[in-house]
Amino acid sequence: MTLTGQVTNAANQSDLGGNMFPVEAEIDAADCEVIGEIPAGLRGSFVRNGPNPMFEPIGKYHMFDGDGMLHGVDFADGTASYRNRWIKSRGLGAEIQLGKAVYPGLSDVMNFPDASLVNDAGPVKNPANTHIVRHAGKLLALWEQGLPTEIAPNLETVGEWNFNGALQGAMTAHPRIDPFTGEMFFFAYNFFAPFLTYYAVDATGAIVKQVGIDMPAPVMMHDMLITENYSVFMDSPIVFDMDGLANGESMVKWKRENGTRIGIIPRLGDAEDVRWFEVPTSHVQHFWNAWENGNRIEITGVRFEEVDFGIEAEGSEKESGVETNAGSPARYWIDLEKGTAGSEYFDDFNGEFCRFNDDLTGRETNCLYMSGFTRPNADPGDFDTVVKYNTTSDTRTMWYSGDNGHLGESVFAPDPNGSAEDDGWLVNSFHDSGTGKSEVIVLDAQRVEDGPIARVQIPQRMPFGFHANWFPS
Ligand SMILES: [Fe+2]
Repeated sequence: MTLTGQVTNAANQSDLGGNMFPVEAEIDAADCEVIGEIPAGLRGSFVRNGPNPMFEPIGKYHMFDGDGMLHGVDFADGTASYRNRWIKSRGLGAEIQLGKAVYPGLSDVMNFPDASLVNDAGPVKNPANTHIVRHAGKLLALWEQGLPTEIAPNLETVGEWNFNGALQGAMTAHPRIDPFTGEMFFFAYNFFAPFLTYYAVDATGAIVKQVGIDMPAPVMMHDMLITENYSVFMDSPIVFDMDGLANGESMVKWKRENGTRIGIIPRLGDAEDVRWFEVPTSHVQHFWNAWENGNRIEITGVRFEEVDFGIEAEGSEKESGVETNAGSPARYWIDLEKGTAGSEYFDDFNGEFCRFNDDLTGRETNCLYMSGFTRPNADPGDFDTVVKYNTTSDTRTMWYSGDNGHLGESVFAPDPNGSAEDDGWLVNSFHDSGTGKSEVIVLDAQRVEDGPIARVQIPQRMPFGFHANWFPS
């Protein structure tokens, strides 16, 4: 079945402006035009997830709300092909039947559609629009408040995956996969105690551990970490406001007085094994990596002093009091023996979307990639610069994509014949707001400052999105 988008009107919807406006067609394009040369060793698929609402939204639309759409570029033998597909969620299926949107966005999420309209699709749509990972042979499109959605290699939707019935709740969009053992670790946050549930999945894809973890408040936790022996969480004060949620007001509030703590649990441990460590009040939306260093756990990520995701009801006054909304690269650490922890920035450049060579997940990492902001007063999420840190040599290298350039997440694709941590390429999406055209670009990860070595011309605009991944073939 060919799907066609129905959104025609972006008026009064700030999150549908410019390149946030959805595309209406699913297309397949073989042998895309390439400027430059695709490296012979780059073989596999780059897949990026993001919102692409099919129907005119009802009420205030937030970028977090849109139906997921996957944009995939397959690289093989120096050529590239492209396809894009909506994620056919149960909720979207109900709306297709009705020919219109019936699910409100997050700002009015408790205003459930009438059950008779959506049948078994449930009261809240799971748009699966945030990330895509591959574990135990399954591609999983992720949205942090619902089940993962299984995706076929051709990007068609298989359906929600509940680990053979073992997962009743949600799954974060940022699980961590240990490349050495093949295990996957993830969490869900909950509106009612226990506010955190932790899961371990073995290399065959079976959930082997589920632990309810007590926390003082329900928080919007987005990412986690693993080391060789521990899973690591940050409890920061982005607190769900249950009254606000029920009243259709602000869904989350920054409650500075709650402070920030980092928790660790042995990877297959139990609730009583959890240890918490106070750190300066701050938030990390996306971490790079964590690893063990003697008695210490070292953590890298982009640190925010406070955050505001703009999830408010239409017409409500902002209550967060948040003034700055930009993060910079930082280290956190825990001293397991002394029971102390801390944090320091290692650069003041603003950026987000932390990525590294995933083959080193849970092990010491020194090459860190980030999407950054060179242009002053950029909107959060409107990245213009590819940034690389080498923390061994304490250097930063960058490529600025130009005054009309807009970037996504820099995904690291390792060179299968390489040995150094940064032997490989960065694959990212690029949009030129002057021409309206989109590209998927390839940079040599050892020479980021040289800019793209290959620019795949995508024959249809790619709206801004969220996370991407590299799946070697
Ligand atoms: Fe994320």
